[in-house]
Amino acid sequence: MSVARGSTVRSVTIAVDGHDVTVPEGSTILAACREAGIPTPTLCFLETLTPVNTCRVCVVELEGSRALVPACSRRAEAGMVVSTDSERVRHSRKMVLEFLGSSVDLSLADEEIRQWMHEYRADPARYGSRAETVAQPPKVQDELYIRDYEKCILCYKCVQACGVEAQNTFAIAVAGRGFDARISTEFDVTLPDSACVYCGNCIGVCPTGALVFKTEFDMRREGTWDESRQSVTRTICSYCGVGCNLDLHVQDNRIVKVTSPLDHDVTSGHLCIKGRFGWRHVQAGLDEPEAEEG
Ligand code: SF4
Ligand code: SF4
Ligand code: FES
Repeated sequence: MSVARGSTVRSVTIAVDGHDVTVPEGSTILAACREAGIPTPTLCFLETLTPVNTCRVCVVELEGSRALVPACSRRAEAGMVVSTDSERVRHSRKMVLEFLGSSVDLSLADEEIRQWMHEYRADPARYGSRAETVAQPPKVQDELYIRDYEKCILCYKCVQACGVEAQNTFAIAVAGRGFDARISTEFDVTLPDSACVYCGNCIGVCPTGALVFKTEFDMRREGTWDESRQSVTRTICSYCGVGCNLDLHVQDNRIVKVTSPLDHDVTSGHLCIKGRFGWRHVQAGLDEPEAEEG
């Protein structure tokens, strides 16, 4: 361990794939990998949430450790020797991706996840058809967002965002065990009947498209959703004085969804119902036929 001159922040140096990497004390192995420019797959990890270690796709080999360790949560300790690209690591990551891909629909997953599937030559088809317990129709229960749990990898991010990490509403949790484990409202009531306050923070952290805006859901069904035709404009929410940053996703001159940047120091990407969904008035009238003159 060392202390940089003129600084009170201690640092630690570990070896990652044969290179010494120095990071502030308390950093994770994942942070060291990123510092060294070594890409590391993650699914359940998000910078703004506490690591929960549910997916294990980020595992690395640590000298002296019998088991592979999750890079996203294991703190870097001086002298650690880490391998991120050994046969054992690649095999483990490939298996995790294959199991996920064989059990849920990853067709709308973040582009990064699909790239990792390709990188590790994951072949979910090896495990046969999708588990029947996962098969279910999307839950379309209101005009704001839908839940399509056929795409859910049980990463827990939405539960964290709804709970102590952001919203403190606790409208959703993990119910059931084993193959029956699923994200659910209390007593599986519909979303409008639940404690949900429609902040949409769960949508903001979902990596697989299991939670999406109703606009996106409808446009995908119609075949009109086209991200290549969308632009993103940063603005500030005008509903109150907090100053949340909004990213307006616009297609064909219409707002199609609203997100918020993770690195905003006030909100960390979280919003309330007004910022997330209160934009329809902006385009009210655009869908109505123009009144004839005279
Ligand atoms: S919209 Fe907000 S309150 Fe509702 S389930 Fe998602 S995070 Fe919880
Ligand atoms: S709905 Fe999305 S955020 Fe929630 S556990 Fe499933 S994949 Fe993760
Ligand atoms: S990203 Fe590390 S355990 Fe999921």
